[in-house]
Amino acid sequence: MVIWPVVLITILFLALFLYWALVITEGAYFGAPFVVWLYDLTARRYDRIKCFDEDEEDWYVGLPLWRTIQTVRQPLVLDVASGTARLPLALLRRPLFQGHVIALDRSRSMLRQGQAKLRGFEDHVTLIQQDAMQLSFADETFDAVTCLEALEFLPSPARALGEMVRVLRPGGVLFTTNRVGREARLLPGKALTAGKLKDMLDALPLQAVETRRWQVFYDQVWARKVGCTSLEGNGKLSLDHILRCPHCIESRLSRIPAGWQCATCQRTYPVQNGILTLVKR
Ligand SMILES: C[S@@+](CC[C@H](N)C(=O)[O-])C[C@H]1O[C@@H](n2cnc3c(N)ncnc32)[C@H](O)[C@@H]1O
Repeated sequence: MVIWPVVLITILFLALFLYWALVITEGAYFGAPFVVWLYDLTARRYDRIKCFDEDEEDWYVGLPLWRTIQTVRQPLVLDVASGTARLPLALLRRPLFQGHVIALDRSRSMLRQGQAKLRGFEDHVTLIQQDAMQLSFADETFDAVTCLEALEFLPSPARALGEMVRVLRPGGVLFTTNRVGREARLLPGKALTAGKLKDMLDALPLQAVETRRWQVFYDQVWARKVGCTSLEGNGKLSLDHILRCPHCIESRLSRIPAGWQCATCQRTYPVQNGILTLVKR
């Protein structure tokens, strides 16, 4: 019967397609809600899959980032697409880090996993569920903005980088990653070539752009926003000053018993189980 080889080949192609669509590209071609749904689904397994090593995380992530902001008193750091809090943890474990980290991710389940790992650091970290494409913070707020292993999953890396640089203070540090190697070739139009990323960064008010080899599938990319670093950090600054309404953009949010409220549109944004939800509805 000739039908069986056809069926087997079809099943093989389907399996390969699903592996590519769900595992390699993590749903990136099906839009942000699908990517985030996949992360919500797999959040419990994420750390087991990644096998983070505490010393390596310190050496390659915590220490180099801390060095760039160590002169700032109580630096304020935003980690975009924070996942299970890999970067906040690496920074907060540094004994001399006295600042505050905002861990932002659209996947609530990823943030919940991170929250459990951040026990003991609660006073130095804020968890926010939000999309990376529109950051609800005032301009020039953060001493460092980071985004590790996530640019290729975002609908528009150029727009996301623009947002990250907007909320960076002059002289502030941008620390992100670029997908490289064999897997990058399996993400056409999503993973950025070094040249394309350079063009994107050149279009932004950044200087000292530097690419460093890191892992098999990721390079680190570092840059500074043009302008002078202020040594007076924002770490003690209250969220009232920096949060903005995702709908009204320029309007501040004020604290209410159940969370935060926009003074202009009166929309409320709940804090549930320690996570502030700023998802646009
Ligand atoms: C590969 S994980 C990286 C997590 C973390 N930065 C790390 O290095 O372990 C990608 C993260 O991006 C988040 N993400 C994907 N699309 C997003 C979006 N549009 N807005 C915010 N977060 C997003 C996912 O929920 C996931 O936590």
